[in-house]
Amino acid sequence: METSSVNRRSFLGRTVGTTVLLAGGVMPPPLRSLASEPAIGGRDVARSNPPGTNFLRQPPAFTGGLLKAQARKLELWPGNLTDVLALNGSVPGPTVRVTTGGLFSTLVENQLSEPLVLHWHGLLAPAAQDGHPRDAIPAGQSSQIRFPVNQRAGTYWYHAHTDGLTGKQAYQGLAGLFLVEDPAEGALGLPTGDHDVPLLLADKHPNTSHQLPYAPTMMDVASGWLGTEVLANGTPNASLAVDTGTYRLRLVNASNARVFKVGLDDLTPFQLIANDAGLLPAPVTVSTLRLPPGGRVEILVSFAGRSLGSLVKLVSHAYAAPAGHGVMTGGLPQGARFDLLTFSVERSAAGTPTPPTTLIPFVALAAKDARRTRRFTLGMGVGMAGGHQINGAIYSLQRMDFTVPKGELEIWEFTDTLGDFHPMHLHGAHFQVLSISGAAVLPPEDTGWKDTVLVGPLETVRVLVRFEAHAGLFVLHCHNLEHEDDGMMQNFEVTPDAVLEPAGPPLLIERSGDRVQLSWPVTDSSYQLQSRDSFGPSSVWQTVSQAAGQANERWSVNVEATGMGQYFRLLRL
Ligand code: C2O
Ligand code: CU
Ligand code: CU
Repeated sequence: METSSVNRRSFLGRTVGTTVLLAGGVMPPPLRSLASEPAIGGRDVARSNPPGTNFLRQPPAFTGGLLKAQARKLELWPGNLTDVLALNGSVPGPTVRVTTGGLFSTLVENQLSEPLVLHWHGLLAPAAQDGHPRDAIPAGQSSQIRFPVNQRAGTYWYHAHTDGLTGKQAYQGLAGLFLVEDPAEGALGLPTGDHDVPLLLADKHPNTSHQLPYAPTMMDVASGWLGTEVLANGTPNASLAVDTGTYRLRLVNASNARVFKVGLDDLTPFQLIANDAGLLPAPVTVSTLRLPPGGRVEILVSFAGRSLGSLVKLVSHAYAAPAGHGVMTGGLPQGARFDLLTFSVERSAAGTPTPPTTLIPFVALAAKDARRTRRFTLGMGVGMAGGHQINGAIYSLQRMDFTVPKGELEIWEFTDTLGDFHPMHLHGAHFQVLSISGAAVLPPEDTGWKDTVLVGPLETVRVLVRFEAHAGLFVLHCHNLEHEDDGMMQNFEVTPDAVLEPAGPPLLIERSGDRVQLSWPVTDSSYQLQSRDSFGPSSVWQTVSQAAGQANERWSVNVEATGMGQYFRLLRL
């Protein structure tokens, strides 16, 4: 029998040891060599980059219109063409810039040979535009995305979110920056223009011919797919010419699984000004900070007092990480040191404006106002129902895991049981971290508004969250993309009314031809099984009327399959 869990596992199984084939594609017009790639801010073309480095690229700007996903060959490494998945011919994809209050509108055209979903990470898009894995654009088709942007200015991003293919597609290039600006931020006097540098950072593991096959083994799925070098905006060994002024660096960790410990190589302190979902109330001086996959920070780095001609590196410092990470791929282990970007100090700043000492007011949510606590246990199953799980179940596109009343404050509690890192991320809202393993004093990078929080080995992280923007279907998942594709994800529904629907035990959904078998453990409680045919506005939850039969310690019900848009949920009576 074909089951959703078998599908998921066999996808990962099939790719083991297999090179992923990309559609060949026509050779693009000759590329300029990296050395002649214009760096941001009108670099003097006669100047040469520091030996062994390449000028930092900036993806093209994008304010809307056609966004075309295509297999391409790009010269990421000088003198070599790499098969990538590009957006409008670029890796990373073009950088979206939108002002709060504006409308984001794009036609996503999928010219790949496989389905595609693009998700707008950190954007409070309506459920139907959010890039839920159910909303796959079939190969050769396109989909219109259109939503108003009404949220704090910040460094957001977008990336592939295709069911079971997120890790592969993001790794091979389908990701880009999404910057939201607003007048309050603009009035702060933060560095702008060529002193405002977005950096999409992702580790890659090129093979000897500079290709990026994606073929995680079971061991790689456990640790996540770890690379051997970090590309900044698709640039290996990136360098940037700077003056002795202050720069605003917007860092996105777009790695599949790599957790960075960001700092300057000589540990000179810098200022943290923003986390995932916007500016902090005031800059915080730090010398390193943790940046998990999916997370963003904005920092102010000053080169004042540096001598002209000196080099300074932004790096990921070495740290102690869970054992075993990176062993099987030959990738560098989690916690290894990496260069992220080399600054070459080449000019004196023409007057250095003093950065602001206060930023954007912050109102802390109060735990005492929370209506309920939900617990998410992060673990792993064994055998056929194995894989990375949340609360004992791997992800099913068709299972509604829980329901959240819109507008009610909740505490969500994530606990790791695997001794591993899990950057937990949710769609549809921003949150505030309440405590990490009981400690309410947070590292600066966990303060303010967030949408991704690192749950460390055996830690329990509690966050305060309220879904205010949109009702509908969203996901919650681990942003280690191998964990996500392996099943560490849940569906939840934000309901417009404040009706709390209690969830039952994990429902196993197995499809066979035109039938769906639904089963759950035999327990003392009574449950009601419900289904709906789609997530459109005209569809509502209906009780499945067949009586459940009992076999092998499980209740089970057979119903007619109406398509992959069909959803099921179990309510406790
Ligand atoms: Cu950046 Cu659901 O992901
Ligand atoms: Cu997201
Ligand atoms: Cu995880």
